[in-house]
Amino acid sequence: MSSPESLVSRVTGLFADLTGSAPEGVWSAPGRVNLIGEHTDYNDGLCLPIGLPQRTYVAATRRADRTLRVRSAQRQEVVEVPLADVAPGTPGGWAAYLAGVLWALAREGYDVPGLDVAVDSSVPVGAGLSSSAALECAVAAAVSDLAGLGLLGSDGGRAALARACIAAENTIAQAPTGGMDQSTAMLCRDRAALLLDCRSWRTRLVPFDLAAHGYALLVTDTRASHALVDGQYGSRRDQCRQAAAELGVSSLRELEPADLDATLALLSDDVLRRRVRHVVTEIERVRTAAAALEADDLAALGALFDASHDSMRVDYEISCLELDLATGTARAHGALGARMTGGGFGGSSIALVALDAVESTTNAIAEAFAARGLVAPVSFAVTAGGPARRDC
Ligand code: GLA
Repeated sequence: MSSPESLVSRVTGLFADLTGSAPEGVWSAPGRVNLIGEHTDYNDGLCLPIGLPQRTYVAATRRADRTLRVRSAQRQEVVEVPLADVAPGTPGGWAAYLAGVLWALAREGYDVPGLDVAVDSSVPVGAGLSSSAALECAVAAAVSDLAGLGLLGSDGGRAALARACIAAENTIAQAPTGGMDQSTAMLCRDRAALLLDCRSWRTRLVPFDLAAHGYALLVTDTRASHALVDGQYGSRRDQCRQAAAELGVSSLRELEPADLDATLALLSDDVLRRRVRHVVTEIERVRTAAAALEADDLAALGALFDASHDSMRVDYEISCLELDLATGTARAHGALGARMTGGGFGGSSIALVALDAVESTTNAIAEAFAARGLVAPVSFAVTAGGPARRDC
């Protein structure tokens, strides 16, 4: 992975190519992996993500007109859009994540300037590691500083920026996601997991320093395609809404785990029953996982990873061959536990692996993929990184 310093200098160079001058500043925000609590955010539930060391950087300068002009090192095009034209579906593609943030902050009544922006990133795109939220939050941090909004200075201000990023993603980029990713990129901390309550949006930091206990979190980007704007993610969300309506609750968070069997019996079909069972049991697993981490009980955390993966494979039906293979291979090579992370249907898995087994587990996963003729996966160990910030 490129160092923060080299990414700052790369994105500054890209900005100079675009505009012929130096930017007013450089801001960045991290990708994320969710340790546990999947598809719970849009059910008002709990989740336990960490920010990644991998970050997206934006170099930006205010413009005299109300136009957004952006260039990304990852894509060979310059996109230019008048802010007045930004609307659901416009601009299309990756620029929606930037334009949407400006749109959402303007809708909140802030005086948002036009911007020239260059983007560079070490967050893999399409790997289920929230590259889009990292981009949104880096831009939101830049706007907060350049427009003098002062929102980066407090958790309350950061939560307001996260809400703008969520609105950008839901309304302008039209991805019906739940808010975990943007909240993580704005509020995470080094060496901590973020226990996020998606009903109150309250957060609690839970120490997360696996290396101190001889372990690592191994991420495997399965390279199996993954997109949140396709129908599967939205259909899970609709099923949860339908189940909540049938049960007469405002969200599945309202359901009591102790009454689960009786509650499931009230639902009209088996698919809804399985979706609800995943959400209710997953929220409980988040509580137990946070307690296990606080007690340094990594074996218990690993067992919860496995149970969470099974729930997503069987009840929520969002795993796939590659995710099952990566997690199964990690377990077979001694991981304390493994699960898919993020939206599912591809993307990445995580495994709790002894420090001295990182290389052998990485190799075993690569060999298992090769033996089945699958695209080579990319595995790397991660630590918990810090939130959106100004870099220079
Ligand atoms: C994606 C979405 C999140 C969340 C996860 C599943 O990452 O962006 O809001 O729903 O899937 O937990």
